[in-house]
Amino acid sequence: MSASIVSISSLSREQLSGKRVLVRVDFNVPMDSNQAITDDSRIRAALPSINFLTQNGARVIIMSHLGQPKSPSPEFSLRPVAKWLADLVSVPVHFAPDTVGPLARQLVDQLGAGEILLLENVRFCPGEILNDPQFSRDLASLGDIFVQDAFGTAHRAHASTAGVAAFLPSYAGFLIEKELQFLDHAVRHPKRPFVAIIGGSKVSGKLAVLRHLLGKVDVLIVGGAMTYTFLKAQGHSVGKSLVEPDRLEDALRFLNDAKSSATKVVLPVDHVVVTEFKADAYSVVVDGNELDADHIGLDIGPKTISLVTHEIQFAQTVLWNGPLGVFEMDAFSKGTFAVAEALANSDALTIVGGGDSAAAIAKCGLTADMTHISTGGGASLEFLEGKVLPGISALERVHV
Ligand code: 3PG
Repeated sequence: MSASIVSISSLSREQLSGKRVLVRVDFNVPMDSNQAITDDSRIRAALPSINFLTQNGARVIIMSHLGQPKSPSPEFSLRPVAKWLADLVSVPVHFAPDTVGPLARQLVDQLGAGEILLLENVRFCPGEILNDPQFSRDLASLGDIFVQDAFGTAHRAHASTAGVAAFLPSYAGFLIEKELQFLDHAVRHPKRPFVAIIGGSKVSGKLAVLRHLLGKVDVLIVGGAMTYTFLKAQGHSVGKSLVEPDRLEDALRFLNDAKSSATKVVLPVDHVVVTEFKADAYSVVVDGNELDADHIGLDIGPKTISLVTHEIQFAQTVLWNGPLGVFEMDAFSKGTFAVAEALANSDALTIVGGGDSAAAIAKCGLTADMTHISTGGGASLEFLEGKVLPGISALERVHV
């Protein structure tokens, strides 16, 4: 018995023309206080599927969440997203002010072939996050076919991401396929040397991904504040740097396990430190891993930057997830930005987990220079931990 996911590309014009295609996308985009979209990458990332469907005459009904609303409220409405989408496509885009109610149904009935209807935020309905089968059925009744293209939300077992797939013939959209191509295939069958750079503030949030990569990557570079839990576990003095005391044992076990694996683990060898955690704090570089009692490490130092860029220079595949310092503050952004630049200048396949690393790359204006930047923050991390994402497994068809 095997399971496979069927791509949207297998659908012909005959199968799509005039059909109601329910598409789950991740339009959870950042907005400013005037509800103006400040980064539309997730909307653009869904366009290949949306355009394919409209060009083949489908009646495209789009579902998404926005934020984590406790109840329906205008600040979480997808109406501004419908307007934004209308500027990116060449077909009419309508907006349904409800999700599965009478108005939505009426608008679906009126929807013309090749047109788009964006439903109001699925999280305005309590059944969404409960993955309530009745709500999944209600959603499914709006379509003839389901297309899942919300990689960023595929780690949620919700009605619109997973539940609905039980009631309709279901397909993976082009974005899901692209994410799987890089986060799954390229990571499982990498061109070597394969270097992973994992940063971030907490070991607790990254230990699972570090463990999953052990033995798979040739070099595993650990950076960010979580470094200090590893260094303290090794007996170094880390001053007042962020440490998770309840993770010291785990950190040491990981480093010991790494010794008997095929992976070389690289920890920072110098640090940019301050005595006060503020953007304009006076900083110095500490060479080595012994910090003074009042030191707080906020970035990797120049020797570590050289080490990391050297590894990137010889890599054929690089996976990056998590900043190496407090890049939001200029004074502590050098390590993270140096990695972004080294990746941009590299000929390797460069795969970036979403979230903070993607934001750092965007801040450097280097987004276009990466092979793939995931649209999923939490989703890409869970995927790289080896977890099954419910929004993807729901698409699996079993063959006997
Ligand atoms: C994200 O922004 O990571 C996704 O849209 C998922 O959002 P959520 O964490 O609110 O489920």
